[in-house]
Amino acid sequence: MKLILPGVPWLIAHKSMLGINRPNKITLNGQDYVLWQNVHGEVFALDNVCPHMQAPLSKGWICRERDTITCPFHALEFDGKGRLYQQKTPIASPLKIECVDDYIWTYGGAKPKLPIPDLIERRAQGFQFVGVTGQESIQGDFLSNLLINYDYNHIKGTHRELFNIEAIEISDYEEQGYQLKLTTKIIRGKNSLQDVLKNPVVAILPKTYLNQFEYSFPSLNSIIGTFPLGKTLQIHVIYPETEKQTKTFVLVFAQANAIVIQLLKKLLLKGIEDIVKQDNTTVESLYPRQKAKIKLPNEEIMFYAEKLYKDW
Ligand code: FES
Ligand SMILES: [Fe+2]
Repeated sequence: MKLILPGVPWLIAHKSMLGINRPNKITLNGQDYVLWQNVHGEVFALDNVCPHMQAPLSKGWICRERDTITCPFHALEFDGKGRLYQQKTPIASPLKIECVDDYIWTYGGAKPKLPIPDLIERRAQGFQFVGVTGQESIQGDFLSNLLINYDYNHIKGTHRELFNIEAIEISDYEEQGYQLKLTTKIIRGKNSLQDVLKNPVVAILPKTYLNQFEYSFPSLNSIIGTFPLGKTLQIHVIYPETEKQTKTFVLVFAQANAIVIQLLKKLLLKGIEDIVKQDNTTVESLYPRQKAKIKLPNEEIMFYAEKLYKDW
């Protein structure tokens, strides 16, 4: 397949998503890889295709003493550098990854064109990590998934049930190359008891609140929400699996009283998971894109992202 945005650093996982001594298959730009983590938090990554007779290594098993993966077909054993365990001959291809704290980045073998962004580190300062939610493989091309993140009007349709939005006001818009910032003020209508029962998180959403967005094109979109009980930080991550399939997950952080975080943790993760599901349902339902015959306010932000994508 034609590589999507070659040279972009992709955030492929948070370490908590990998488990310990368990093979994980990930797909990036049409290639399958296998990743595993040992008890010390070291992560290994290889091309998922066994160099013997092309079995998927991710279906194999990990040896915790030797940090190796064994192929499920004829049981050849490889270390994290792709070397046959007994002979030290490198025959499987390693994937070059870079771990920044608990975040696993890769260029998927392409020549780097952008540095790994410092957005997570900067934005998460003073926040407590709550968890990862909304892990999905979406049937939809990368651009459609990218654009919905920069689309300020879809909240009224796609997320109507959850937020019941009456108005969105945008301020402090700033763009600088691949970085973009803005603030939205969300003004909501009343939720019915039915809405609350369906998604209890709406019960703690105030009538108006602020969301501060900061993007690092193309993979990250961060949102700090300010509420009476504290702040939340969501980092929405996307990367292209194939031409028609996009991976997404959300890193969730909070800044509040520790008891409040503990109490609201499940609600928060579930609320965000539902938001992601609503976006995915929309993206998966779209007909092929045509030139729009009408323009809505604030769509320039979306067109800016689209231009970055097309000019890559
Ligand atoms: S296919 Fe992997 S060991 Fe034979
Ligand atoms: Fe959305």
